[in-house]
Amino acid sequence: MKFSRIIGTGGYLPEKVLTNRELESMIDTTEQWIMSRTGISERRIAADDEFTVDLAEHAARQAIDAAAINPREIDLIVLATTTADQVFPSTACLLQHRLGLEGCPAFDVQAVCAGFIFALGVADNFVRSGASRCALVVGAETFSRIIDWSDRRTCVLFGDGAGAVVLTADSQPGVLSTHLHSDGKYKDLLCVPVGISRNFSKVQAGAAYTTMQGGEVFRWAVTAMSDLIDEALTANRLHKEQLDWLIPHQANIRIIEAVGKRAGIPKHKVVVTVQQHGNTSAASVPLALDQAVRDGRVTAGQYVLLEGFGGGFTWGSALLKM
Ligand code: COA
Repeated sequence: MKFSRIIGTGGYLPEKVLTNRELESMIDTTEQWIMSRTGISERRIAADDEFTVDLAEHAARQAIDAAAINPREIDLIVLATTTADQVFPSTACLLQHRLGLEGCPAFDVQAVCAGFIFALGVADNFVRSGASRCALVVGAETFSRIIDWSDRRTCVLFGDGAGAVVLTADSQPGVLSTHLHSDGKYKDLLCVPVGISRNFSKVQAGAAYTTMQGGEVFRWAVTAMSDLIDEALTANRLHKEQLDWLIPHQANIRIIEAVGKRAGIPKHKVVVTVQQHGNTSAASVPLALDQAVRDGRVTAGQYVLLEGFGGGFTWGSALLKM
């Protein structure tokens, strides 16, 4: 039996830090409101001349270094983003060129904040089927570009960043399971309601902004992400006590705490980065994984459950044996 296994992780955050105190001078809010309702104290914002591919390249190079592979071994690139550099080519193709690679398939996956989990699911299937031996999987976002910075209900929540992993074929797991779900009937609860084919004039006018029904999204995220834990553990015949780490999508500390409580996962087993990163959409899970690997919390042999939730709605998990 062939499995895919993560052999290197990487992450990148833009230099510019945007604090809650700075937001107080931009919109009608307070540092204390943001902290108490979201747990976010700061987020990073890409520079004007910094694009999603730039963030992705930093994270990818770090993951390649950590994996100690020759980049030429990479035979698949799957990149999750909501904020592609261009309509086309895909940001994955732009990244492939930056890395000096050619010929291997490179494509984007769009599942918003669950994007990295979807990309990992796709790459895992490529590796397990034998179509790929070494895959680069990236989540990268310049989400600040699709935020209305005068809308206090959304602008305090999001940030920019990128995370990446290198996956290789192995006889030992690795990725034990992935579970991916979508339900488009919730399309209006969290969206950017304009694009290329619809309302393009708004895009041209610079008004392609995220809109959200926060309360509804909150309730759905808690239910979906706690159900994902049961689904993954049941499928792998594991008890929650055997799980070493839960790495959930980093949207809001209150969502993360409610998921842990509902699923019965103690706080000390949950990786949290939302305080410093905000919600970096497709980058949030790989950034949190990279942080927990680099600071020594996640180690070889542990069971780690990654899970994401985003607009669509989309939601999914990946259970890993590190
Ligand atoms: N600063 C100050 N007040 C704010 C504010 C801000 N940044 N944003 C909203 N408010 C106000 C609202 O306008 C509302 O005022 P009103 O009662 O006069 O209308 C009040 O605060 C309470 O809003 P409410 O929506 O009840 O707050 P909440 O406790 O539900 O928290 C969110 C709002 C957005 C933080 C919360 O709903 C949430 O996190 N939802 C999920 C969002 C998310 O994670 N999305 C991405 C998922 S991938």
